[in-house]
Amino acid sequence: MTDAGLADEVSTTGAAPVTYRIALIPGDGVGPEVIDATVSVLEAVGRRFGFGFAWDRLVVGGAGIDAYGVACRPQDVEACRDADAVLLGAVGGPKWDNPDASVRPEQALFALRGGLGLFANLRPITVHRQLIGASPLRPELLEGVDCLILRELTSGLYFGKPSEQRETPDGRAAIDTLWYTEGEIRRIVMLAFELARTRRRKVTQVDKANVLATSRLWRKVTEEVHADFPDVELEHRLVDSAAMTLAKWPAGFDVLVTENLFGDILSDEAAVIAGSLGMLPSASIGTRETAHGRHGLYEPIHGSAPDIAGRDMANPLGTILSAAMMLRWSLGRADAAEAVEAAVDRALDEGYRTADLLPSDATEAAACTRVGTKEMARVIGDRIAI
Ligand code: IPM
Ligand code: MG
Repeated sequence: MTDAGLADEVSTTGAAPVTYRIALIPGDGVGPEVIDATVSVLEAVGRRFGFGFAWDRLVVGGAGIDAYGVACRPQDVEACRDADAVLLGAVGGPKWDNPDASVRPEQALFALRGGLGLFANLRPITVHRQLIGASPLRPELLEGVDCLILRELTSGLYFGKPSEQRETPDGRAAIDTLWYTEGEIRRIVMLAFELARTRRRKVTQVDKANVLATSRLWRKVTEEVHADFPDVELEHRLVDSAAMTLAKWPAGFDVLVTENLFGDILSDEAAVIAGSLGMLPSASIGTRETAHGRHGLYEPIHGSAPDIAGRDMANPLGTILSAAMMLRWSLGRADAAEAVEAAVDRALDEGYRTADLLPSDATEAAACTRVGTKEMARVIGDRIAI
């Protein structure tokens, strides 16, 4: 782009350029690689649109256990609260994998979700047309897939107390508690209807109401909230049937809203539809507004992938697309978000693929350009600058 072109897009108000404060949590495994790649893309989009970033790198997750003996310290949660948004790579890995250990990397996720009040987890499932061949589903089933999974994130079995193992006269027993208040259900269901209004106006509420009392409360509260959204179609579906339908007819879903554990399971199932877990972004938000938008935490759906960590092989697109969600939701920069998404699309159009995205067919694979994490980020950064 010429200097003159650049000047057109930079604010003409004469005010000092905005600097967004982002808490960065690279975490473990491939986390630091996908975060570095995404930082370079965000720097590129900032240059194009005339804004900047102040990065606050936090050592959290397994890295936090190694450095400080805990996955996430109270001051890390504070730093995330003070930032405009949080961008996270991944936490966990074999080194810290003992589920009986008293400190575990995923405790960081719970501390951040609970501590920052991030009760809504948004996982959009879309299929990039260039990657249809990478999906295990038949191409005709992928036509029109555009589903938003909205998972409740700060209650349910993940947080319910008691949650422990006990000695009983019958031997060892264990208990977890599935508990929801109507307020916890109402706020996320309301968000589901609001989001559906910006999309295809359909909400599917997923539960196990034929068995669980909490699910029956979810249904009642959802019906009550629906009264204020008569223009949105509401469907209830049992979780087992929803799991099956996601594989048989994913295009039938618009907004799917559900409790914490069901959402965890269904969102991984739905992620397979997109061809690679490496492609999918997520946002976790609450209700707190900052000067620029809604405070939130953004992370790819994939985990720390220790088997490929440190080898410049990880797909950074899930994190880059999470950063686009961050630009849109937390920073009020829909223009920059669109530029990032368009650049990802262009890179895919031009045949750039990380290893996970290569078609299994050898001839089709030969027509693609295989790239590593850094090169994919460079290609996207270049296409943002144009
Ligand atoms: C996710 C993950 C976490 C969860 C794990 C790592 C605790 O699977 O973010 O979906 O279950 O919430
Ligand atoms: Mg999960």
